Amino acid sequence: MYDFKIAATDKPTLYRDLAAALEALVAGEPDPIANMANAAALIWESVPDLNWAGFYRNIDGELVLGPFQGRVACIRIPFGKGVCGAAAAARQVQRVDDVNAFPGHIACDSTSASELVVPIVRDDRLIAVLDLDSPSTGRFDAEDEAGLVQLGEVLARVL
Ligand code: SME
Repeated sequence: MYDFKIAATDKPTLYRDLAAALEALVAGEPDPIANMANAAALIWESVPDLNWAGFYRNIDGELVLGPFQGRVACIRIPFGKGVCGAAAAARQVQRVDDVNAFPGHIACDSTSASELVVPIVRDDRLIAVLDLDSPSTGRFDAEDEAGLVQLGEVLARVL
């Protein structure tokens, strides 16, 4: 049984513990869907104030919904569209304090207020994006971004 109790009071510790738990979860498992599914569940359980956490995979140059936690979401997102598509096209983290002010934001869930999207790249290939949504405006700060980038680096090796 896996029982990761991650209850850090500060963000650097939270994300350091999460990265260690994720490393342990994916160790030796080559299936990318299984690893994305467990990563989404771990993040959902451990990171407060989220209403969506999951993945869009790069399938032939289009983002296609992958494993996630949260409400039913849009299935296909072209590169360049919305926050996820911007992260995929630029291969750069998108940290959006107010999604309603983001041109082209795709509102899968009207309760989402802020969003953080981390591209996952291996050998110069975009594998997927990791997408977190929050119902709170300005939910994600630079420490969240650094922590999620760290998780993305763990995942890049196993997706
Ligand atoms: N809001 C995202 C779409 C994906 S959902 O948030 C799950 C976007 O604009 O890319």
